Amino acid sequence: MSVPLLRIERLRKDFGGVHALSEVSFSVREGDIHALIGPNGAGKTTLFNCATGVFSPSEGEVWFRERRLTGLAPHRIAARGVARTAQNLRPWREMTVLENVLVGCHLLGHAGMVAGALHLPSSLREERRLREITMRRLEQAHLAEYADHLVGELALGQQRMVELTRALASNPRMLMLDEPAAGLHTRETQELGGLLTSLRGQGLTVLLIEHDMSLVMSICDRVVVLDYGEKIAEGAPREVQADPRVVAAYLGEEVS
Ligand SMILES: Nc1ncnc2c1ncn2[C@@H]1O[C@H](COP(=O)(O)OP(=O)(O)OP(=O)(O)O)[C@@H](O)[C@H]1O
Ligand SMILES: [Mg+2]
Repeated sequence: MSVPLLRIERLRKDFGGVHALSEVSFSVREGDIHALIGPNGAGKTTLFNCATGVFSPSEGEVWFRERRLTGLAPHRIAARGVARTAQNLRPWREMTVLENVLVGCHLLGHAGMVAGALHLPSSLREERRLREITMRRLEQAHLAEYADHLVGELALGQQRMVELTRALASNPRMLMLDEPAAGLHTRETQELGGLLTSLRGQGLTVLLIEHDMSLVMSICDRVVVLDYGEKIAEGAPREVQADPRVVAAYLGEEVS
């Protein structure tokens, strides 16, 4: 089997007496859309936070391209090619769509602060280049016509797409999305599925936390299920869906 892109190894995270993650291990293959699902409070966001340097795990390690991420600061992990979105929307609502995504491009910029402050030709060229890349990203997400709109004026679904596009602006190898379809209409969810599938076609790997099971079943290659901080199932979407432990974990939960 080929070397996985991301490897989660015996990850544990305790918050006082709460075991948010216990001994969770799994791998994400390069080029897959890999889902991380489970009932509310299962530990999904905590796993993202441990993998992206927001929390340090109580035990265990996270590896990306066979290099250890655990212990690195979030910006260093981002520079390795891991981008993420947050569960709660965080686009800068008082900035335009274009500005929001340009901020995400900062990892691509090389001209440096001094050249930028002095408006040297190298930094102007750089800015033009970043704007072109940004506009291409906005076109792909059907946001180009809103480039100059304030994000706060857009519908929720479009704001989510701005956040996703901002995460893509740094040209990541892996994109981690925390419930990107929350609050979206059916049509918007289908468009999101189409976008993620086409990004996978371009070689991007996606780790997706999602409650919308029809989205998970239609676009994901593999699924890991957490419940009370433990991995209870892993496999192809259809296998996992039929697993009695998964069905039991979701009993009493509203599954769409
Ligand atoms: N910063 C924190 N401090 C204390 N407890 C936390 C913290 N973050 C998460 N927890 C606890 O850890 C457990 C897992 O939470 P987490 O947010 O990872 O779940 P989740 O699977 O993302 O749930 P949801 O589907 O509701 O987003 C919960 O019991 C939660 O209360
Ligand atoms: Mg969560």
